[in-house]
Amino acid sequence: MTVKDDTPTVKTFTLKDDLCAKANPGQFLMLWIPGIDEIPLSILNANNGEIQFSVKAVGDATRHLHNLKTGDLLGVRGPFGNNFTETRGRVLLVGGGTGTAPLLFLAKRLAAKADRLSFVVGAKTKNELLYLNELDAVCTDESAVATTEDGSYGLQCLATEPLEKLVEKQKFNMIYTCGPERMMRAIFDIAEKHGLAMEASLERLMRCGIGLCGSCMIGKYRVCRDGPVFTMAS
Ligand SMILES: Cc1cc2nc3c(=O)[nH]c(=O)nc-3n(C[C@H](O)[C@H](O)[C@H](O)COP(=O)(O)OP(=O)(O)OC[C@H]3O[C@@H](n4cnc5c(N)ncnc54)[C@H](O)[C@@H]3O)c2cc1C
Ligand code: FES
Repeated sequence: MTVKDDTPTVKTFTLKDDLCAKANPGQFLMLWIPGIDEIPLSILNANNGEIQFSVKAVGDATRHLHNLKTGDLLGVRGPFGNNFTETRGRVLLVGGGTGTAPLLFLAKRLAAKADRLSFVVGAKTKNELLYLNELDAVCTDESAVATTEDGSYGLQCLATEPLEKLVEKQKFNMIYTCGPERMMRAIFDIAEKHGLAMEASLERLMRCGIGLCGSCMIGKYRVCRDGPVFTMAS
C-alpha cells in the first residue's frame, strides 16, 4: 500500500485488490479498518490489479486511516453499487471535495469518447482543491474551471455559478455530479431548467453496502444497491 498527501485533510491510498480493480466509474468499496469501523469510499482509479481511493479525515475511521503505517491490516469488499453511464457527445462534470474522485475516474474513461469534456471543481479554499493537474489533462479544449469560496484560487464563487454560463453557451448531452448535497441540488435545478440529463452520485450512511440492512434508504431506494448513481432524464 502507498499513501500520498493530496491536501492537509485528504490522502490518496493505492493498494492491490483484483476484484475492485474491475470496478467501473461510480462504484464504491467498503473499507474495513480492524477494530474501528467499515466505511464506503468511491473508487478513484482501477486498473492492472490496483485501486486508488481518496479519504478526507472527518471522524474516527477516516482519522485512523490517515494514521496507518506500512504493514497495518485493512479489509476491502467490493466493488458495489451501479456506475455512471458512459455518454458520448458533450459532457460536463461537476465535483465538490472528495466527490470529485469518481468523476475523475469517469472523465479518464470518457476522454477518448466525448466530443467535449468540461470539468468544474469546487472547494472552500485553494489547499482543498483536488486533482487539478489530472483534471486539466482530461478536459478537451480548455482547463478545468476551479472555484474557491474564499477566492484563493480560480473563480471566487460556488462550483454551481459557472454552470449557468456553460450550459447557456452549448447543450450538454449529460451533466455528471458528485459532492455536497446542496451543490447537487442546485445543479439539479439548472439541469431541469435547461432540459439537460443529469446523473448524481449520492451519499448515505452505509453498513452492509449490499442492500440488506436498510441504513442507506432514500424513500424506496437503497443507495448502496439502487445507486449510488441516480439519473434525472431531460
Ligand atoms: C457511496 C459513498 C462514497 C463515498 N466516497 C468517499 C470518498 O471517496 N472519500 C471520502 O473521504 N469519503 C467518502 N464517503 C464518505 C465516507 O464514507 C465518510 O466520510 C466516512 O464513512 C466517515 O467515517 P468516520 O468514522 O471517519 O466519520 P464519522 O465519525 O462516522 O462521522 C464524521 C462526520 O462525517 C459525517 N458523515 C459520516 N458518514 C457520512 C456520509 N456517508 N455522508 C455524509 N456525511 C457523513 C457524520 O455525520 C459526521 O458529521 C463516501 C460515502 C458514500 C456513501
Ligand atoms: S448499506 Fe445496507 S442496505 Fe444499503
